[in-house]
Amino acid sequence: APFLRILGIETSCDETAAAVVERDADGQPTVRSDVVLSQLEEHSAYGGVVPEIAARAHVEALDSLIDEALKRANVSLSDIDAIAATSGPGLIGGLLVGLMTGKAIAKASGKPLFAINHLEGHALTARLSDGLKFPYLMLLVSGGHTQLILVRGVGEYERWGTTIDDALGEAFDKTAKLLGLPYPGGPAVERAAKDGNPDRFAFPRPLVGESKLNFSFSGLKTAVRQAATEIAPLTDQDVADICASFQKAVSRTLKDRIGRGLERFKMQFGNEADQPALVVAGGVAANLELRETLQTLCDKYGFRFVAPPIRLCTDNAVMIAWAGLERMANGVSPDDLDVQPRSRW
Ligand code: KG4
Ligand code: ZN
Repeated sequence: APFLRILGIETSCDETAAAVVERDADGQPTVRSDVVLSQLEEHSAYGGVVPEIAARAHVEALDSLIDEALKRANVSLSDIDAIAATSGPGLIGGLLVGLMTGKAIAKASGKPLFAINHLEGHALTARLSDGLKFPYLMLLVSGGHTQLILVRGVGEYERWGTTIDDALGEAFDKTAKLLGLPYPGGPAVERAAKDGNPDRFAFPRPLVGESKLNFSFSGLKTAVRQAATEIAPLTDQDVADICASFQKAVSRTLKDRIGRGLERFKMQFGNEADQPALVVAGGVAANLELRETLQTLCDKYGFRFVAPPIRLCTDNAVMIAWAGLERMANGVSPDDLDVQPRSRW
């Protein structure tokens, strides 16, 4: 494939992001710019993302963010080979803003448009950050998703497991809310857990032992609520103990679920993958206990554990640009300009 340079746009949730990324003839990536504007402030008072506020914030920010991404990359639109914009899954208002902007730029400049699946962006990021070869396993754990995905190739994904109720990040956020900790809950729960006793509460380990690779976290949240109600009013030590016990239950569950996934991968691919790898992505990937759990698991099964820098794990436009580049380099045709956003893609 020739040298390619692409503009990426991401607006599926509460981050407005634009990036310019290149791929040389050998497939080597260069991130020329990576601009992310988090809407955390706008949503924190509500304890979660408010779709209408998110859509408006994207409208207000996106144009100047794209300008900024081009400026930092020291290029103009005419130096860009294509535009890649997230077109699902996500909040429909935000998707509309990003995809319409991508279409408008494509139409005005005559450049091709790639409508990118946000999950594909997460799935391919480890090839940009760590040069991973196909096939590999990816665990995506964010506020909206909990999925174990087999990544076979560009455009070839198999979902091995997903949550049947709450996403893992959501479970952290809801637990934090129950305990009166600030939003987003993940970092707050992790901080509180440091001083806690992980063995004080025996919270359920949902689906442990199940042969299907799905996840479930709503029962865990209910158990936390019960424990908190029983011993209320909560002292700081109580909160710390609940958080530590919660994280332990999460780790145990993941150990079981992901362990089975690694076994299945080995059965399916044997020695075909020279070194099998597990990649983690999504905001929850910032959690140290989760990382340690996955690292230990990978050591046990002979997998390489790949945790890209957290900036690339959370929502960003570099991953969308990179997914577009991988598509182009693989000869995938661009999308028609009448492509529609798909909130549940
Ligand atoms: O990927 P991400 O930034 O975006 C969305 O899903 O929108 O993920 C955000 C999620 C939130 O639920 C947040 O509580 C969680 O990631 N999170 C964490 C940690 N940092 C962020 N969960 C556990 N431990 C953390 N250190
Ligand atoms: Zn995401």
